[in-house]
Amino acid sequence: MRKKIVAANWKMNKTFADGLQLIDEILNTTPVNNNVIKIIAPPFIHLAAIADKLKSKEGFAVAAQNCHHLKSGAFTGEVSAEMIASTGAEYVIIGHSERRMYFGETSSLLAQKVNITLANNLTPIFCLGEMIEDRNANLHLEKVKQQLKEGLFHLSPSDFSKLIIAYEPVWAIGTGVTATTHQAQGMHNFIRSEINKKYGKNISENTILLYGGSCNAENAKDLFACLDVDGGLVGGASLKANDFVAIANSF
Ligand code: 13P
Repeated sequence: MRKKIVAANWKMNKTFADGLQLIDEILNTTPVNNNVIKIIAPPFIHLAAIADKLKSKEGFAVAAQNCHHLKSGAFTGEVSAEMIASTGAEYVIIGHSERRMYFGETSSLLAQKVNITLANNLTPIFCLGEMIEDRNANLHLEKVKQQLKEGLFHLSPSDFSKLIIAYEPVWAIGTGVTATTHQAQGMHNFIRSEINKKYGKNISENTILLYGGSCNAENAKDLFACLDVDGGLVGGASLKANDFVAIANSF
């Protein structure tokens, strides 16, 4: 039985004080379903404080939104996986389309980030998804297959079985255009079948696949009801406590 997860990607939002306030609001918004793991991915500056606030709260965990691909050294402004782990965070989002697009992150760089994340006992939440041009040209399956192969398929079966994958079609991110349940289920089923081909049935059936892209309190129920959708990676709607908790309660 795969775990159900709803992850909040705050992106570059919330001052330190506003971030802590949002956590308080989420904790005060009941009822929350303790069987659903709620992962909060704030900016780096919030990590330690939020990890501290959530450490005794059942069903909550903390993620970084990115990490550097090397262990340590003269890389001004960067944050390592080891530093992230030292805050109490347990997950790292890797390969978000905004990192790929605006910061030029390539598949080979992302593969290194996945490796260093796992080496520090952190769980990668690996993002992939096609652009609208790919979908219009009916190349979306090919594109996602390539991202899977280049970013993740170098891993050993035991390492692969530790990670989470988030399918985020780029055309759905921040646009209000959500993938239909048919599109989301279709892609998730495809991803699972590619994992099956590479790592076998047991690993493919246990891999957690999240959907991201204009997921909100209204559409989450239908998306999460899809057979191969195990939860969501939520941007905009995760910045309001009521909406985030409603999404987490949508299973
Ligand atoms: P939105 O929910 O704002 O579309 O963002 C999705 C996302 O990018 C989560 O990582």
